[in-house]
Amino acid sequence: MTMTEVVLAARGVTAGYGLAPAVRNLTLELRVGEVVTLLGPNGAGKTTTLLALMGLLPTMSGEVTSLGRAVKPGRTAKLARAGAILVPDDRGIFPDLTVADHFRLAAARVDRSRLESVLDRFPALRELTMRRAGLLSGGEQQMLAIAKALLVRPKILMVDEMSLGLAPIIVQSMLPGIRDLAKEEGIGVIIVEQHVAIALSVSDRALVLNQGSVVLEDDAQALLADPGRVEAAYFGSHEEVA
Ligand SMILES: Nc1ncnc2c1ncn2[C@@H]1O[C@H](COP(=O)(O)OP(=O)(O)OP(=O)(O)O)[C@@H](O)[C@H]1O
Ligand SMILES: [Mg+2]
Repeated sequence: MTMTEVVLAARGVTAGYGLAPAVRNLTLELRVGEVVTLLGPNGAGKTTTLLALMGLLPTMSGEVTSLGRAVKPGRTAKLARAGAILVPDDRGIFPDLTVADHFRLAAARVDRSRLESVLDRFPALRELTMRRAGLLSGGEQQMLAIAKALLVRPKILMVDEMSLGLAPIIVQSMLPGIRDLAKEEGIGVIIVEQHVAIALSVSDRALVLNQGSVVLEDDAQALLADPGRVEAAYFGSHEEVA
C-alpha cells in the first residue's frame, strides 16, 4: 500500500433520480490516506455523489471503481465488506440501542484491541457504552457513527454532513482526529462539510459542487489561502476545472 494508490475513482459519472441527473460528469480520485472534502450549497449534489460512489444509486453514465472493483447497484454490501463505508447524513443510529449494541452490530465479532484503539480516538464514548444512542448529544452520536464505521478497519470512509447540528467548536475538535486517522491508517476519507474553513484545514483537496457539477477543485491549502474562489463557486460563478 503506497500513499499514491487510488482507492476510489469516478470517471464522468452522471447520476440522479428518475430521468433527472443530480450530478453531472463527475470525475474524482481518492488515494490512500487522503482527505477530500465535498463542498457546495444545499441541493448541489453532494449526497447524490456519495450514493453513486457507494452503488446506492445507479449511474446514468460513467463509471465508479472502488477498491479495485466496479461499483454497481446491488453490490453495496459487498463493497462495505471490502472496506468502503458510508456514514449517512442521518448517521444510521438506532435510538433505542446502546452504544455497545452499535459496536456489536458493526462487527459480527468485535475485536477488542481494535475497539480500544477506536475508543482512544473518541474517549468521550468510553463513559457512554451502556447509554441508549437516542440519549446522546449530536456530537456524541456523530462520534458513535464514525467509531462504528472504524471498527471494521475501513479503507474508504465517507461521512455525509459531518457536522450537521454540531457547534463549530465540536467540529473543530473532531475533524483533526479524522485527518490523523486517515494518515495513520491509510484510509481514504471523503467528508461533506458545511464549515468550509475548518474542513479545508484538515483536508488535502476539496471539490465544490454547484447544481450537480464540479465547479472548483484544488488543494485545500490553496483554497484556504483564497476563500474568495470558494465563495464564488458557491454562488455559481463557474471557474474552469482543469
Ligand atoms: N430521492 C430523491 N428524489 C428526487 N430528487 C432528489 C432525491 N434526493 C435528492 N434529490 C434532488 O437532487 C439534487 C441534489 O440533492 P443532494 O441531496 O445530492 O444535494 P446535497 O448537495 O447533498 O444537498 P444538502 O446540502 O442539502 O444535503 C437536489 O435537487 C435534490 O432535490
Ligand atoms: Mg446532502
